Amino acid sequence: MPDAPILRRAALVAAFAPLLWTPAPAAAAPAQIAPAKREVVKSGGYVLELPLGLQADAAYVPESNPLSTEKIELGKFLYFDPQLSKDGSLSCASCHIPYHGFADPAPTSQGVGFKLGGRNSPTVINRLFSSDQFWDGRAKDLEEQAHGPLINPVEMAMKSHDDVVAEVTKIDAYRPLFKAAFGSDEITMPKIAQAIASYERTVVSGNSPFDRYQAGDKDVLSASQVRGWALFQNKANCQTCHVSFNFTDEGYHNLGVGWDAQKKELTDLGRFDVTKNPADKGAFKTPTLRNVVETAPYMHDGSEATLREVIELYDRGGNANPNLSPKMKPLNLTPAEKDDLLAFLLALTGEVNNLEPPAKLPGR
Ligand code: HEC
Ligand code: HEC
Repeated sequence: MPDAPILRRAALVAAFAPLLWTPAPAAAAPAQIAPAKREVVKSGGYVLELPLGLQADAAYVPESNPLSTEKIELGKFLYFDPQLSKDGSLSCASCHIPYHGFADPAPTSQGVGFKLGGRNSPTVINRLFSSDQFWDGRAKDLEEQAHGPLINPVEMAMKSHDDVVAEVTKIDAYRPLFKAAFGSDEITMPKIAQAIASYERTVVSGNSPFDRYQAGDKDVLSASQVRGWALFQNKANCQTCHVSFNFTDEGYHNLGVGWDAQKKELTDLGRFDVTKNPADKGAFKTPTLRNVVETAPYMHDGSEATLREVIELYDRGGNANPNLSPKMKPLNLTPAEKDDLLAFLLALTGEVNNLEPPAKLPGR
């Protein structure tokens, strides 16, 4: 995995990031970061056509779980099936809602029995381009990630993965689907996770106004959005972390979100809990900004209600705390520049593939 293309690319970009945000001369041509032609990802015998602007060589599909039409179809059923939760009330789609940018409009999500979790549901969009998952990166791939929510007491709350397998096994109509996807109709937890991960990898967003602009259609962005893009790359410093076509360095940074100024402590240690490295206290994964206007509220704790609030947070240099990223600093944006930056973020909303819920679930 360390040699997965996305990681190599991110490391490279991170190494050059300080150069990227050195103020460029006013007339410099905006950098081309998204491919100008549609690309395809080939995995197993499967060909996944990416919308414009997404980069095929950054896709991460583990060799042990190549894509297939049958696995994707099965995974989609499982993703939308509330039978996988303790009381049949919640599916993955309950907190990663297709029509809400595959995220949750609540600051933190409610699981079975209305139990409240501690973090905001991140989008499932463009997970194809990351190996590590969760705000703190504790799952090494989507397959490992899918195990978590099923038995998390504040999410789907099943007693064990064996119980999940037993529930799915009760629904006869799943057997032929497992047979078609895996060659045998035995239902196991690794197969459930592999199928869900395969479906998630097809949920990609591209062909946004930004991508069409990058591909040469210069009329598609407003003058304000074009100014916003220049700010994003230079004065506003966003591209230090939100780099490349998916707008993330796949890295972890402390912006001071969740800093309790009164108690003088972080409410969530984030990446530190995974690495035990003191420098990672309060650091969280840089999220993609694609379709970001759809995924409010924002940040790992859902504490910023709107994109305007997010821009204000960056303008003041984040929230001061002992572990604040050295990359954060006050921006001194004018009101007009804040408007332009916001307008630019709206240009990142693209078409999302494979978004329609299944018309009917197996056996129902
Ligand atoms: C009760 C709400 C809830 C349910 C149900 C739920 N999730 Fe999540 N999901 C979350 C929250 C909250 C997080 C962030 C947790 C963290 O980072 O510690 C998350 C994180 C994720 C991530 C990581 C995304 C990223 O950018 O790192 C993926 C992928 C994901 N969930 C997929 C799923 C799948 C698949 C299912 C069903 C098996 C599911 N979720 C069920 C709330 C939910
Ligand atoms: C030092 C790295 C860094 C810089 C610079 C940076 N970001 Fe972020 N961004 C992050 C991280 C990390 C998070 C998640 C932080 C958290 O939840 O604690 C984030 C979260 C966000 C979110 C919320 C997304 C969501 O799904 O919740 C938006 C919007 C955003 N950034 C936009 C911007 C803009 C606009 C700029 C420039 C003004 C910018 N960022 C500069 C690293 C950075």
